[in-house]
Amino acid sequence: MASLPPPSDPFQEAYQRESPAYGRTPSPELASFLEQCRPQGKAIDLGAGAGRDTLEMARCGLHVTAVDRSETGLQRIEQRAKEEHLSKWIDTLALDVRELQLAPATYGFIAATTVLDHIPLQAAKELWEHMIQSLVDTGALYVEVHTTDDPGSPTGRGPQRTEPVSETAVHVINHFAPNQLLQWAVETEGLHVLRYEERTEWDYTHGPEHLHAKAVLLASRTPEILNWYGHPAAFPKRTAPQN
Ligand SMILES: C[S@@+](CC[C@H](N)C(=O)[O-])C[C@H]1O[C@@H](n2cnc3c(N)ncnc32)[C@H](O)[C@@H]1O
Repeated sequence: MASLPPPSDPFQEAYQRESPAYGRTPSPELASFLEQCRPQGKAIDLGAGAGRDTLEMARCGLHVTAVDRSETGLQRIEQRAKEEHLSKWIDTLALDVRELQLAPATYGFIAATTVLDHIPLQAAKELWEHMIQSLVDTGALYVEVHTTDDPGSPTGRGPQRTEPVSETAVHVINHFAPNQLLQWAVETEGLHVLRYEERTEWDYTHGPEHLHAKAVLLASRTPEILNWYGHPAAFPKRTAPQN
């Protein structure tokens, strides 16, 4: 396969800001899953940005590889990891995710928070299939994508929306149709959907405030996820003895 040309970094300025784009708060469902289910071993964060999810994975004891083609984003991750004394849990890899060789049966957890929508559909589907193959038998994944309900989407309901569009919306080139990500998940043999949601969300972490429409998926290779109580946890096991 021919190598892709080195890209200019459209996210460089957004990650150079004093408060880098996307903030520090990890994706809520990802954080909930990690806290409740405590996956072990290796993890990979695809399109890791400035690392809000990478850091949460490392805090939970996973050895994380953060992959992004933005060297500036990766530098912010290294800086934040140092501040939190998490450097030994985190490696960074400056690479286009389409060139990534994901080893089979390797990762206990994979995150892809808005990156499958930044690459063409066919490449996204190929990466999805490689992600599934690279999970260990007990592994789980978190995927988030923009949908055609997003005000920045040129198709679907996006063009009818009047809410403000993200400053980085132009880099989303593959908006997912409603239910499309869910369909990928249910058509994938041996994958168990733990949570799927399509929603709108306001974003105040970068540029002028704006709206997103997202699809969010948590799924597992094993049906035996014994400690997943949902997000927010609905009926968890009591931790303190009752009087
Ligand atoms: C919307 S940001 C999300 C960042 C991070 N996952 C988060 O949620 O905070 C998308 C990220 O994907 C990265 N990205 C986009 N296309 C990519 C590609 N083909 N290969 C590697 N990274 C890519 C961008 O550099 C950017 O950091």
